[in-house]
Amino acid sequence: MSEKYQNFAEGLLQFLNDSPTAFHAVKNAAALLRENGFEELKETENWSLKNEGRYFVVKSGSAVIAFTVGKGDLAKEGFRIIGAHTDSPALKIKPGACSVTPDGYVKLNVEVYGGAILQTWFDRPLALAGRLVVKENGTLQEKLIQIDKPVFIIPNLCIHFSRDMKEKGSLNKQTEILPLLSMKEEGMEKDDYLPALLQDEVGIKKADLVDYELFLYEYQKGIFTGKKQEFISASRIDDLSMVYAGLDALTKAETGEGCQVFAAFDNEEVGSTTAQGANSGLMLHILNRICKNLGMTDEGYFQAVAGSTSISADLAHAVHPNYSDKHDAESRPVLGGGPVIKYSASQRYATTAMSAAYFAQVCERAGVPCQKFVNRNDIAGGSTIGPALSGLTTIPTVDMGAPILAMHSIREFGAVADMEYTRQVFLAYYEGGRC
Ligand code: CO
Repeated sequence: MSEKYQNFAEGLLQFLNDSPTAFHAVKNAAALLRENGFEELKETENWSLKNEGRYFVVKSGSAVIAFTVGKGDLAKEGFRIIGAHTDSPALKIKPGACSVTPDGYVKLNVEVYGGAILQTWFDRPLALAGRLVVKENGTLQEKLIQIDKPVFIIPNLCIHFSRDMKEKGSLNKQTEILPLLSMKEEGMEKDDYLPALLQDEVGIKKADLVDYELFLYEYQKGIFTGKKQEFISASRIDDLSMVYAGLDALTKAETGEGCQVFAAFDNEEVGSTTAQGANSGLMLHILNRICKNLGMTDEGYFQAVAGSTSISADLAHAVHPNYSDKHDAESRPVLGGGPVIKYSASQRYATTAMSAAYFAQVCERAGVPCQKFVNRNDIAGGSTIGPALSGLTTIPTVDMGAPILAMHSIREFGAVADMEYTRQVFLAYYEGGRC
């Protein structure tokens, strides 16, 4: 890896490794914001914003919106927004966490969160993280936990029994993906195993445990790879790499004339329609509150929103070396070729000609190359937060992201250079003049 990329890339890898769930990503984001002079605001308390102040709000423990108040007239300058998401596909523990088979295997009962490539979860040591709701002195408290140990595994069926299974792609999600925890132990019932694990590893008593949101993650950490260590192979690159790039840009940007905003929403992988998702009132509430708190009229607020721009930052598909025909013949982003603008006639991406042109101009100003992506007509492709964000706020939005391979695998694959380019273009966006 070239030296100029190293610092940011190492910070990014650390952030990915330290953030096994959206809750942990937000905790780490909040710590990074605090270190850089951002003050936490609570939704339930009075705010008193100051010019050139730096602030952030955490929503539900899994989304965060950070912003800096500018020097100029917000009604004229507007908001400059970057949005990303904190969640990634994973296996989530169901209520009724364990079962014991007649053969004496203790299995974890899980459901699938988001569009995971389930085959990649097999034969890998899996660890556990998330949050618990516990009783503490008669009140309910949330507790973030992480058991960073190889506790679970989903063993593959051996080749000798599966020769007749033509398509391993058609896994039964109810019966074939349940991770193994242990063998049955004397005196233990099926409902004892998860509480016993939590008591041993994080000291929570069964009597105090009320509920949980727990996810499995790959125990093995992310690494740099490739001939020159120019690639990154890690879990949750989608979309924590864009979260990290956005945070880095916001914390390093010079205060602007308008208001610089970075938002990392939860639940993109399951459609964004939650209190902490992009398809909610969250963003508009915050924008409105910033304006009101700075003493602006409704008229000023509407003008500010109308004069704003937004970047929806989620990852893009690089052309795959072994499946190159999956891309449209004329738009073929590659690893290392720079951030990708995503187009869709059916508006599964919010990009318009003008928002794309604006973004391309920012890339040019930053000295960063930029690529374009549109799906083949016979492939439906994905979507992201851009359409929701743009629809709810009415702010023109470009959908973009660094190109990667293996999207939604337990381990995704990208180029270090694209992460660095993205950081640079975000910084240029926050610091640049209006187009
Ligand atoms: Co994504």
